[in-house]
Order: sequence, then structure tokens, then C-alpha cells
Amino acid sequence: MSKVYSLPSHIKEDLKLVEEELLGIVASKKGKLAEASLATLKAGGKRLRPILVLLAGTINDYDLSKLMPAAVAVELIHTASLIHDDVLDGADTRRGFPTVNAAWDETIAISTGDYLFGMAFEILSKLNNPYFVKIMSEAVLALSVGELYQMKTYHSLNQTVDDYLFKIKNKTAFLFSVACLMGATLSGAKETEIEAMGKYGENLGMAFQIYDDVLDISGDKETLGKPIGIDLKDGIVTMPVFFALEEITTGECLQKVVENVNSTEEEIREAISIIESTSAIERTKDKAKKFIERALESIELITDAGTKRGLYSIGEFVIDRYH
Ligand code: IPE
Ligand code: IPE
Ligand code: MG
Ligand code: MG
Repeated sequence: MSKVYSLPSHIKEDLKLVEEELLGIVASKKGKLAEASLATLKAGGKRLRPILVLLAGTINDYDLSKLMPAAVAVELIHTASLIHDDVLDGADTRRGFPTVNAAWDETIAISTGDYLFGMAFEILSKLNNPYFVKIMSEAVLALSVGELYQMKTYHSLNQTVDDYLFKIKNKTAFLFSVACLMGATLSGAKETEIEAMGKYGENLGMAFQIYDDVLDISGDKETLGKPIGIDLKDGIVTMPVFFALEEITTGECLQKVVENVNSTEEEIREAISIIESTSAIERTKDKAKKFIERALESIELITDAGTKRGLYSIGEFVIDRYH
């Protein structure tokens, strides 16, 4: 981790309990789908969404027993989405280990993702809160809308930055927002604070995905624990690509790589160095920073100093990370 989040110390302790619960629930199940789920969870991950649930839960009355099912459920949904995403992206490594589609196969990966979606909703139902079921279902629907939209625009230069923003809002930002909304609601926060946290989560999620897309170009495979250059290989047009295309002359290798369904490793490396030779990465990082600024503006009304410090530090982490 490039930076350690500045979280209230009780949250750091409670995150260990969330981790135990997460692994414990899956470890208690038998069969191939539980095995593949456990392997993905044990491989690690930043647990950013459960952190957001707990941190938003500090706004008013912090109660881990209520926050726990929400934190576990959101991480299970996220994990399910990653397992499905790796099938769609044809990725072989996740969190430093072989993906479920690589270690088992695609059919097991699809069933494992479904299994985790089901388990997540079973756990969420313990909270007896129809609003949570509604927003979590909406997040899952948004995820599929975002991923489907991405598939429809593979290898196409006929799309705009706004199309890209629509896609990442659905596939990533929505779930971040839901994590924050659940935590804030469970702490008994005021309506204005809950709304502010929803906006914080959404803007943080936008910045997070934009930065993830930067890392796909300029990151390091070992540190990331997942392949780099895979977006270009799959013809996914991300923000750095839009900016680089604005700066280069038409007909260069970058256009060809985006449009070509069979680009070689060497062509992808060349496309990456073209992007890096422009100001695209800097401009993209600036856009991510703008989303973080928006996220932080929306939480000005939060009065708890510890909560605010934590939310600020997650904001900093997102635009200054290596994995
Ligand atoms: C990866 O999410 C998928 C995106 C939304 C970019 P994370 O980077 O949070 O993945 P883990 O959980 O830490 O592995
Ligand atoms: C995020 O997009 C995927 C989901 C939100 C499920 P990516 O495809 O960029 O995520 P990584 O890079 O594989 O983690
Ligand atoms: Mg992917
Ligand atoms: Mg990515």
C-alpha cells in the first residue's frame, strides 16, 4: 500500500473482525464454488468498500454488530463482480494469484460469482432493511449495465468521455456510494449527512476507477497483482486513451491497437509508450483529483473530526496509490 489510511484505531481493530467474518462465512461452506470464493478472498484486496461502511458508521452512533453484515455483503458483491469481470476481460491474474477462470474455468467462475451474489444478499437480509436491499440491488444492476456497455463499445473509437463517465459510474461508483449510504444510515446519521456520504462515495468511486485505468497503463504488474495493458488489449477506451488520441496525429499505432481485436504484446507496449509520451496520464490524474475534490466538498457538513480525517485520507490514497 502506498499510504496507510488514517483511520480511527477502533476501526482498524474492527476491520480485522470483518476480515474474520468474511473468511469464516465462506470457509464454513463446502464445495467447489465455496473453495473458489475463499481462494479469491484469501488472496487479499484492499477491502476499501468495507472500510467505507465502517467509517461512514462513525458519523453518529457506531455499532459494529449492525455494520458487520453491510460490510461483509458489500465486499462479497465486489468480489463476485471481480470474478465475473475477469471472465469478461479474459484476465489470468487477480490479487497476485490466478483468477478463478484461470485456476478453474469460466463456467466455475460464472457460478462462483453468482454464488457470492446470493450469499451477499442472504447476509444483507439479516439487517431487515428493505432500503438496503433496494440500493444494493440497484448497484448490482448498475454493475451489469456498466459491464454490458463496456462490451458494446469494445474496440470502438466512436465514443466520448461522457460515455466513459457513464460506464464507470455504473460499474464502480454506484457500489462505493452504496457502501457509504449503508454505513451512514446504520449510524443514525441525519438525512443531510447520509446524502452527503452518498455523494462522497460516488465521486470517490469515479476517481478510483479513473485511477485504476491509469494504473492499467503506467502501473506495475507485481504491485497491482493483476495484468497491465489489458484494457488496451480488450479495446476498452479509458480516459488516458481519449486524451492521448487528442494529442497524436491520426493513423498512429494507438488507434490501431484500440481498434484491432488481435494486437500483439509488442503493439500494446508501443501504444503504452505513445500514451506516456503525451500529457494524457497527467491530465487523467488531474480529472481524478477533481472528483476527489468534489467528494471532499460534499462532506464539509460532517462534524465528527475522526470521520472526516478518515474520509480525507481515503481520498488522498485513491489518487496517490500504486495498486
Ligand atoms: C478493482 O477494485 C476493480 C475496480 C473497481 C477498479 P479494487 O482495486 O478495490 O480491488 P481489490 O478488492 O483491492 O482487489
Ligand atoms: C472494474 O473495472 C470492474 C468492476 C467494477 C467489476 P476493471 O476491469 O478496470 O477492474 P480490474 O482492473 O479488472 O480490477
Ligand atoms: Mg477487469
Ligand atoms: Mg482496471
